[in-house]
Amino acid sequence: MREAPVAKPITEFEAAEIARQLFGIEAAAHALAGEYDDNFRLRAADGSEFVLKIMHPDRERRFVEMQRAVLQHLATTAGELPLPRVVPSLRGESCVQTKVGDGSGRIVWLLTYLRGKTLAEFQPHTLELLEELGRFLGKLSSGLAGFSHPGAQRELKWDASRAMWIRDYLRYVEPLPRRMLAQRFLGLFETDVAPKLAGLRKSVVYGDANDYNVVVACSPGEAARVAGVIDFGDTHYGITVSELATATAYAILGKKDVLAAATAVVAGYCAEFSLTEDEIALIYPLVGARLAVSVVNSAHRKSLKPDDAYVTVSEAPAWEALERWARVFPRFASYAFRAACGLAPIAKAAAVESYLAKSGVASILEADLRTEPCVVLDLSVGSAFLGADPSSSEAAQLSAAIAGELKRSGARVAVGRYDEARLLYSALQFGASKNPTDERRTIHLGIDLFVEPGTPLRAPLAGVVHILANNAIPLDYGPLVVLKHVTDTGEEFFTLYGHLTENTLHALSIGQPVTRGQVFAHVGAVHENGGWPPHVHIQVILDLLDRGVDFPGVARASERAIWKALSPDPNLLLQIPAERFPKPSRAGDQLRARRKDLLGSSLSISYAKPLNIVRGWKQFLYDETGRAYLDVYNNVPLVGHSHPRVAEAAQKQLSLLNTNTRYLHENVVRYAERLTELLPDPLKVCHFVNSGSEANELAIRMARAKTGSDDIIVLEHAYHGHTNTLIDVSPYKFDGPGGSGRKPWVHVAPIADDYRGPYRRGEKNLGEKYAAHVGEIVETLRKQGRRATYLAETLPSVAGQIVFPPNYLAEAYRHVRAAGGVCIADEVQVGFGRLGTHFWGFEMQGVVPDIVVFGKPIGNAFPLAAVVTTPEIAEAFANGMEFFSTFGGNPVSCAVGLAVLDVVRDEKLQENAKKVGDYWLAGLAELQKSHELLGDIRGSGLFLGLDLVRNRETREPATAQASYIVNQLRQRGILAGTDGPHHNVIKLRPPLIFAEPDADLFNTTLDAILAEDAAQP
Ligand SMILES: Cc1ncc(COP(=O)(O)O)c(C=O)c1O
Repeated sequence: MREAPVAKPITEFEAAEIARQLFGIEAAAHALAGEYDDNFRLRAADGSEFVLKIMHPDRERRFVEMQRAVLQHLATTAGELPLPRVVPSLRGESCVQTKVGDGSGRIVWLLTYLRGKTLAEFQPHTLELLEELGRFLGKLSSGLAGFSHPGAQRELKWDASRAMWIRDYLRYVEPLPRRMLAQRFLGLFETDVAPKLAGLRKSVVYGDANDYNVVVACSPGEAARVAGVIDFGDTHYGITVSELATATAYAILGKKDVLAAATAVVAGYCAEFSLTEDEIALIYPLVGARLAVSVVNSAHRKSLKPDDAYVTVSEAPAWEALERWARVFPRFASYAFRAACGLAPIAKAAAVESYLAKSGVASILEADLRTEPCVVLDLSVGSAFLGADPSSSEAAQLSAAIAGELKRSGARVAVGRYDEARLLYSALQFGASKNPTDERRTIHLGIDLFVEPGTPLRAPLAGVVHILANNAIPLDYGPLVVLKHVTDTGEEFFTLYGHLTENTLHALSIGQPVTRGQVFAHVGAVHENGGWPPHVHIQVILDLLDRGVDFPGVARASERAIWKALSPDPNLLLQIPAERFPKPSRAGDQLRARRKDLLGSSLSISYAKPLNIVRGWKQFLYDETGRAYLDVYNNVPLVGHSHPRVAEAAQKQLSLLNTNTRYLHENVVRYAERLTELLPDPLKVCHFVNSGSEANELAIRMARAKTGSDDIIVLEHAYHGHTNTLIDVSPYKFDGPGGSGRKPWVHVAPIADDYRGPYRRGEKNLGEKYAAHVGEIVETLRKQGRRATYLAETLPSVAGQIVFPPNYLAEAYRHVRAAGGVCIADEVQVGFGRLGTHFWGFEMQGVVPDIVVFGKPIGNAFPLAAVVTTPEIAEAFANGMEFFSTFGGNPVSCAVGLAVLDVVRDEKLQENAKKVGDYWLAGLAELQKSHELLGDIRGSGLFLGLDLVRNRETREPATAQASYIVNQLRQRGILAGTDGPHHNVIKLRPPLIFAEPDADLFNTTLDAILAEDAAQP
């Protein structure tokens, strides 16, 4: 067939005419891009859509017949798959031979149209979506299993078994390194695939699941789904596994982690359609060959038609993917694919493990750990032995801590665990990058034996010295030895010993036999062993993956299963009794299940995929695998997670005295002095409690003691705490799910929200207008002889990070006080410098409340809260009934409260909140220019809100998008949350040590997510 379109393309007008005449469809026609045929999208008046295919004059009928037959076959065998359906003509034909305007004879046929976007245009390609693509194609393969058609017997350049054709065309590829890369994959095809072709399973394959043929759809905020595949023009009889390999080749385009993307497709495919071990082993070379065919084909066609953009459409991403694919070690890929298909990643693993279990191993140390006591260390991410401060992992400190453990336990050997996630590996070679939330290598693949430097090591098994090297860069193996062993059934495996003495290397030579029990190495000291506390790292390796000295001792958590299969537990050699190992912590999904059993089901949990956070340090939280998350959500750890000064203050006081509050104690008085120094007159009388709820509850009792009335005025959507009274005064709760409505003594005033409320930014006297509503309520009550307590956050958070317009609180307080009422400021969210411009929220409004309530950040997550009031109200409250809170203001809480105030002052955190907050806001304002969804950006310092809208005019809340964005941020290592009555406000309230690079990371990540399909308005 000629590879050129006909001279005169069919017009849209003519296409519409053909559709009407042949198929009886009145529709507008839009030409679709295509190589040879004239294809049109038809949209009928009733909204139904079709693809009209007017085939190239040279197309054989058999070719169209075959496609029609495939689609009709799949409509019955895989009816659940959304695929184009063949629409018969008025005369009942599935393809019609007709003459068109230019006089040429054409085959015309009609298909239903699949709505969505092509995978190439869709963002993001999550692993879930790629897995679904795999499942789709697995079902397609099942559906095609029994299908045959003479038209499928074709000679096609895209047929995976014919990849060798590119050999003669490699010369078109420039420059040379690229030609060599394509050649390399051709070579792999020749050695690994070609000899197996005859024995491979064959069937009719669709064969063209490229990223422009896969259709994807999603609703706003929803996960994407595969909405079908189109263009069955490459359907042919070929090797069955090529269906998967072709899809995989295109699925890895544009991916940083090509293996993860490929594995997702393979896992999905195998879940629906079983592959043989031989087929799985050929996925890697077939993917490489497909990409090589694609780039060589492009190079050739470019030489024929240098200006044809269509030819080179996927050339650049294909080269990039090929380069990345070349960096994946073929056997490693096949282990990953085997695991994805439910097989043991490494076939020989069971043989080696049973050999190790049954062979008599010699003790590596003089102290035989089968009987000798040892102490097993916890060096995991959530280790209380290490704590959160990374300095505790440095060699000197860690050595001292381990020495302490040995002394305490009386053991001679300390053991570091296999398969333990650790944050000890901070050097670049472990994958540390500029982005602190990127996945690093954390999973320890060996066992460490911490012993004296110079300790001799014996070979556990007979073997041969295979590698001797000194990996001298800091935190690497230092001097290392790899021994090669062979099982009784001839399987090769290796044992690796790292952090040795340099002398060990001098005393051995490659190929030298080592007998079982022979001393062959010594444990190195810190100056020569890579900078670690003296220990030997022992690792079993089933396949060195041709990596030589560079075989990793630590793996990425996302590849944990494969690396564990490559390096099984060295305790097979050491045989340390199981009871010496502490019970391992449960993984997140196990904890989730137990939490569900044991804790109340009304207890909420964040994210579709909940997090198991085991460590916090500064503005970062870490899950059990060591993945770091930038915390832009938690306002409670005001001065940063696990601040050493706060922790030390609590520990010291807890080790000395903690008791109830009925005794004199310096701490409580000092703390009251420090707190009141920060507050204006007449807020000088403190009461300490343990939570924001307890504090608000107490504040209400005090106010009522003063007013003599139960009546409370609150704002719409407010939340003030979880006790009975506080639920009654929190519209967010009593008007929300499970709520029982407003009590008669509760009065709700409109929230002064100048973005969504009745009076909006730009109008005059906004504060006064909103406050007038408070005035009306006060007046109604006054007429009934009742006096009101006005309880409001100074910047409402749950209501959507609201900033009141100027004068609002001053006016509201004026109305309330004029009628003898009391004003409570709930500062639980915003106090202690967060706002940057002011230390307290009420200062922003230029008011002084009668009672102010503090919680959350006051103790940096230690249970402490306070109510501070005027002497007059305190006096009214002291009516004879004793006030006693057992723990409120205890010596430890107050020590913590003092430390928090010290840190805020000494680290100038209010100033930092102002500086970083302003910087962050400026960056967000830039994003707002290009993303319609960012309706309003508001707040002050490090208390910001992003109000997401579907339309800036109507301000329709973008609730689904907000939830999507927050979950995507979490996937990318940033923790944020949504709030507001419509759950469409992303609230940003990080610890006050948040820095400008953190703001940049948030903004660039948000920018990328806002461009994704599910985040569109
Ligand atoms: C404004 C406000 N007040 C009071 C509380 C209650 O504090 P706690 O949860 O410490 O009882 C909260 C908690 O979210 C709050 O946001």
